[in-house]
Amino acid sequence: MAVLQWIPDLDTGIEEIDIQHRRIVEYINRLYELRQSPDRKAVADVIEETVDYTLSHFAFEEAMIEEAGYMFSAPHKRVHDLFVRRVAEIKSRFELGEDVADELHGMLSRWLFNHIRNEDRGYVDTVKAYQRMANKGNKDSAQQVKEQILQELESKQKRKGFFARLFS
Ligand SMILES: [Fe+2]
Ligand SMILES: [Fe+2]
Repeated sequence: MAVLQWIPDLDTGIEEIDIQHRRIVEYINRLYELRQSPDRKAVADVIEETVDYTLSHFAFEEAMIEEAGYMFSAPHKRVHDLFVRRVAEIKSRFELGEDVADELHGMLSRWLFNHIRNEDRGYVDTVKAYQRMANKGNKDSAQQVKEQILQELESKQKRKGFFARLFS
């Protein structure tokens, strides 16, 4: 596994989701660059940031598909949860001093592209139809839907500003 390259085939056509997926790829590539660094703090930071950003993306995506009425929202969330548990397990081994950067990098790279291709693709039509409906040709309402999702997430998680950086 080397540096991940984004290919247009991975675009969902849902702007905010594509921005987030590309950002996760950037984090994974940063992890790749640093994976053999002797600077443990730098490795720890990039692991933390990658995991943190990925969790924010999952929360956003789950809220978005639920709002759009996607019928497989619950199973999709379970797939995310399972992955989060695997990452948490690797992360705790890192905290115990194990060298996990390569393993984590390989796992994230394989999982992300597979997940986008196989599972994320499944909600695209439903979400786009929902956005068109919410839009009714009006860009402001799409923005409103996005802001509403962010507000709901922040109040659920009680972490102000936490999700805003998904779009910063
Ligand atoms: Fe997903
Ligand atoms: Fe996703």
